[in-house]
Amino acid sequence: MTDSVIRATGYWAPPSVIDNDELVASYNAYAGRFNAEHAAAIAAGEIEPVPLSSTEFIVNASGIQRRHVYEKSGILDIDRMVPQIPPRPIEEVSVQAEFAMKSVQPALEAAGYDGSDIDGVIVASSAQQRNFPGVSCEIQNIIGSDGFSFDLTMACASALYGLHIANGMIRSGQAKRLLICSPELMTCINVHSRREVHFIFGDASAAMIVEADDGRPGGWDVLGTHAQNKWSSALRSDFGFINIAERQVDPDYEPHLDQDGHRVFKDVVGFAPTVARSMMEDIGLAPEDVRRTWLHQANIRMVDMIAKRILGRDRTEENAPAILTEYGNTSSSSVVMNFQMNSDDMKAGETGVMCAFGAGYGVGAAAVRKR
Ligand code: COA
Repeated sequence: MTDSVIRATGYWAPPSVIDNDELVASYNAYAGRFNAEHAAAIAAGEIEPVPLSSTEFIVNASGIQRRHVYEKSGILDIDRMVPQIPPRPIEEVSVQAEFAMKSVQPALEAAGYDGSDIDGVIVASSAQQRNFPGVSCEIQNIIGSDGFSFDLTMACASALYGLHIANGMIRSGQAKRLLICSPELMTCINVHSRREVHFIFGDASAAMIVEADDGRPGGWDVLGTHAQNKWSSALRSDFGFINIAERQVDPDYEPHLDQDGHRVFKDVVGFAPTVARSMMEDIGLAPEDVRRTWLHQANIRMVDMIAKRILGRDRTEENAPAILTEYGNTSSSSVVMNFQMNSDDMKAGETGVMCAFGAGYGVGAAAVRKR
């Protein structure tokens, strides 16, 4: 069996930022207008008023201060509340493929490769902008790789599912060098008019190049990967191809993103560490031998609790860094961004664990050692 190595990573977060105050002001303006327009029905008890949001709640409940977004003005415009993205002619590169390339290019440069060196492209992200052809196929064409490509979806854990599959393909000899990219345009999926979720997500793209170990120095040995699921509807986005048919029957049907935040919190804080710990046990890795864990960024209290359960010690910024203050939840790109931003100081031979968790529920884990 050939071992696999993470040769390089890349990430990109858009420069536009929305801080909590701006987001809350926009959301509350929307809520205030709705409540004024429906004052009589609300007074008669026929409909519920839209509740107000607050910066204080967002910071206390999640730790998020701001998020980087693909297109700001559309999200803050209360007549729109989604990014403004015009459709593109089919001759042009698609929005998601273009967004992916912002992280693919730096990853290729960091590795010293061009696209012809890649024999497989996996787009591993929460959603793809069309059903077919695969966004991965488009990226494969852009970079000039003549191998295979496919799209994979497992919500916030997608990137580590991509790594799990890439590791298996490399170890079994089915592939030599794979590009995994996670272009997460979460502000297009989110519903900015729902108080429970309006503050959670930001946009970012991340990429990893994983290859068969050819003995060259540099990069990170992949010591083990694991993926596990447990069905739940507590975090769900019903956008999809069936919607066109459903709306013919019920024009008011809104296939929005929704979550029972309490439920997700409780379930995932229990489930995610067990997956990471069972992978660690499989490869004989003791918690005290793990210098750092790079976790998916959803909520600072989840990061605290999951880090403690994986590492067997209290979380610190050194042993489980948090980047959600600045970026919010950028779905599956977050664990790769976190890894890239917070691994330069690790020394050769030191070990870390990545763990990502989200809707499904799906949990991915990977143990890596600096070469
Ligand atoms: N602004 C102000 N108040 C809000 C609010 C908002 N945006 N959203 C909810 N509230 C209110 C609630 O109505 C509730 O009021 P009540 O006590 O009068 O009923 C109170 O604040 C507490 O709400 P609750 O939903 O219990 O907050 P929470 O502490 O569970 O935090 C989440 C909410 C969503 C931040 C938290 O549950 C969470 O992060 N869950 C995990 C979700 C997640 O990470 N999903 C992605 C996984 S990959």
